Amino acid sequence: MNNQTIPVITIDGPSGAGKGTIAQMLALDLKWNILDSGALYRTLAYFMLQQNIKLKDFEENMLFIKSNFKVKFDPGTIGEPVKVIFNNDDITKKVRTEDIAKKTSDLATDPLIREFIRPCQRDFMVQPGLVADGRDMGTVIFNDAKLKIFLTASIEERAKRRQSQLKRQGSEVNMRLLLQELEERDKKDTEREHSPLIPAEDSVVIDTSNLNPEGVVKEIKTYL
Ligand code: DC
Repeated sequence: MNNQTIPVITIDGPSGAGKGTIAQMLALDLKWNILDSGALYRTLAYFMLQQNIKLKDFEENMLFIKSNFKVKFDPGTIGEPVKVIFNNDDITKKVRTEDIAKKTSDLATDPLIREFIRPCQRDFMVQPGLVADGRDMGTVIFNDAKLKIFLTASIEERAKRRQSQLKRQGSEVNMRLLLQELEERDKKDTEREHSPLIPAEDSVVIDTSNLNPEGVVKEIKTYL
């Protein structure tokens, strides 16, 4: 099957803009596959930590990592995070911690890591279609996608959403600390040399600060 015939919707934006929820709702609604590329990076960080492989030793361990890096996503149910299945193990909770987020942010600035992850991401493009959530889905990985969405929201709103998400998972995080971490992550994501977080020229930008998820999905579907 020619990849060109497989429809892709890319959803990019900073942490907490609502990408995960919107991508999940769209994937469930359209019955398409889902790629949570942030979780793919997180899983790599988790695996390297588990195997005690430092970033500087990535290249020499690349073959081992490649042959063991089998990740699947299940959109799951609304209100729950997209499920991350790694080597048949549900590691959703393990990769969605702030500690892994921090480590992942460092890892994601490395060009070798991005190059390694690129074909893994393209592999998710299978029939009947793909909703791809991340930072460079529309600009780099699926720059040929038919519909590109860039979600934004104020940093305060994003921190609030992150806090309630973490609360649902059983962790209490101080708001000031969350704001600070979000700022740091935004800076790293937007200022990095390789695949910085920017809206694709041909993307539709939606500010979700004052919209509910259903409203955002409805707006996106008008562009389909
Ligand atoms: O969306 P998230 O918080 O799960 O992403 C985790 C980290 O991975 C975040 O620091 C940004 C990075 N990332 C990236 O560089 N490129 C992507 N396509 C997705 C995530």
